[in-house]
Order: sequence, then C-alpha cells, then structure tokens
Amino acid sequence: MKKVESKKIEKLKSINWEEFYKTPLNNKLKYFEKNGRLFDMLFSQQLTPEIISNLFATANKIRKIAKAKEGLDWLQTLLSHKRAMLYFVQPSTRTFVSFQSACYILGLKVSEIRSTSTSSEIKGESAEDTIRTFSSYADIIIMRHFEEGMAEKAAWMLNKIKRPISIINGGSGKDQHPTQALLDLYTLDISFAERGGINNKTIVMVGDLLRGRTVRSLSYLLKNYKGVKLIYVSPEYLRIGNEIKVFLKKHKIPFKESADLEKSLKEADAVYMTRIQDEYDINGESKDIDYTKFHLNQKHLKLLKKDAIIMHPLPRRQELDVEIDNDPRAKYWRQERNGMWIRAALIAYLFGIEDKILNI
Ligand code: NCD
Repeated sequence: MKKVESKKIEKLKSINWEEFYKTPLNNKLKYFEKNGRLFDMLFSQQLTPEIISNLFATANKIRKIAKAKEGLDWLQTLLSHKRAMLYFVQPSTRTFVSFQSACYILGLKVSEIRSTSTSSEIKGESAEDTIRTFSSYADIIIMRHFEEGMAEKAAWMLNKIKRPISIINGGSGKDQHPTQALLDLYTLDISFAERGGINNKTIVMVGDLLRGRTVRSLSYLLKNYKGVKLIYVSPEYLRIGNEIKVFLKKHKIPFKESADLEKSLKEADAVYMTRIQDEYDINGESKDIDYTKFHLNQKHLKLLKKDAIIMHPLPRRQELDVEIDNDPRAKYWRQERNGMWIRAALIAYLFGIEDKILNI
C-alpha cells in the first residue's frame, strides 16, 4: 500500500466513532479493505464492476458444483476450519436462512443470536461489547441490526483490534442492505443474459422508497452499469431520499419520480416491488397513506412488456398479488434462492478462496 494511504488509515484509526461516522464514505472506503481487497461488506458503494463480476462468476460456479454430492462435499471442505457468527437482532427469514445455508455450503460452523433479549444485552451489555465478544469465537460476523450504522461501527471497532474479523452487513436499519442488492443484481444479470445484460435497462422501483433499504442499496449498485434508467414510483410521503438523488445525479444516472404505477409499468424492463416499512413509523403515519395505488395485480400484467421481469425482496403483503406467482415474468422466488449462491460467493471472496472455486 502507498505510504499516503497507510497514513490515512492510521489517521482513521485514531479518530473517535462520531468523527469516523461523519467522514464521507469515499474517504474511508479503504479502511474496510485489506491487501487491496474488501475485508468488510457494509455498503453497496464498495462494490466495483470487477468485484461484482468475480462474485457472479463464483456464484455460478458454486451453484454448478453443488449440484452433485461429490461437488458439495468438496465445497464443504473449503472453510470447514472457520466459524461464522450470525447476529440478527432484527426480524429476518430469508437473509438469515440464506446466509446460514451459504455457510453450510462452504463448510463453516455457524453460531447465532437472534434477539437482544437472549444475549447479555438484556443485562445491559452494549452492542459494541457483544460484537467484540463474537470476535473471540468467530472468524466472520454476519449481522442485521435495527440501528443504522451499527454494522459500520462493528467494522470500525474490530479493524482496530489484534485479531480483526470481517463484518457483513445483512441490513442496517433504514440505511442499507448491500447483499440484498447483490442478489437483486445477480437476478437482473441472469434474467437479462440474452438481452445484453443490465446495461440500458429501465428499472421501476415501487413502494416505500423512503425507508426501504433494499431500494437504496440497489440504486447505489446500479452505478456500475451504462444506460440504466430508474423510475421511482411511490406515494408522495414515501419518496426516495435526497442523498440517493444526489448520488444518481453525480453518476449521471437518469431517473424520474412518479405516482403513476400504470404509466411507469409500460416502460419497465424490471419492476421492483416493495412493501410499506411501517415498523419505522414514528406516529403510525403509514395508516393515512393509500398504498393500494402501489399494489401490483393481475390486471397490470398486460401493461408489462412480454420480457419484463417482476422482482420483490420479500416479505410481501398485498402489494404483490399471489396470483402473479404463476406468471413467467415473476422472478422473486428465484431471486431469494439466488441470494444463497451469491452470499456463498461473497463469503468465499472475503476468505480469499474464490480462486480455488473458479479454477477447478
Ligand atoms: C428486506 C429487508 O429486510 O430489508 N427483506 C429481505 O431482506 N429480503 C425487505 C423488507 O423487509 O421489506
């Protein structure tokens, strides 16, 4: 590493958390790398086209190898000497289970804490000390936390200790969910493989864009493609945040905002539905919003292009009619399975063993 860079990292190590947290992301990305590779996976902005294509290739290969018992047995030897801590103190079904399954595929041993009511946090221990404790037993922490910035704080803290271990952000409050964005991107890449890939596609994101972390992380990730257009469809109160718009403008990604689902659907190559995130309500304000205008029903299917795809990070409520599940354009069940493969690829990458998989 260049002298200037290591000096910058030393400086970052010396400042306190408040200052570190305030530091613009671009000035601290190197702090989450080691030997020119990602060490922690916290934000979509860390992912470059090179890393993304490496992860896609690794995921494709894992998927293929795992089809046969001999292949899966071999994969399970790769990280059988490593342990993962799944610290998920916010509700989760697929992110949790797909990470757990990804660990099993690579042979990692897994421990879990799923609520602050069953960890010593209930006795008054801080999240910081809890996380530091995991680092005494595990080789990687995969975490979901209700507090924005907690995954970053964990990485900030652990990169300063003698035995640093990687952090993967499996969802940090309303802020980010980078591995969901990765699996969304992987699904888009597979779906558009015969149509020139993700470049030049129009993606319509629908729903609670203000508080949906998956939409935010996916928006950041799309900067790695050319000619992508974004249409954000939401109720007035739940419009996409300003920092995303600033980012898109900076990266010259064209976008528009609309409240007209039907009109927007006609332009879509991919429709990305999301549920209302009412767990983040302060005063039950979601109750006053007419979300039915942002529901996708069978009647909408005829408006969609024949080769458009329908996505959803899940869980869904009424915004995505179950009747749509049988439409060939519905990709959300595949999307969730893709999550397991891409997360296995990410874990392999973070342990630096992806070449073993790619070269076999
Ligand atoms: C999403 C999440 O947790 O942000 N779920 C997921 O990880 N697949 C979306 C949501 O909860 O609405």
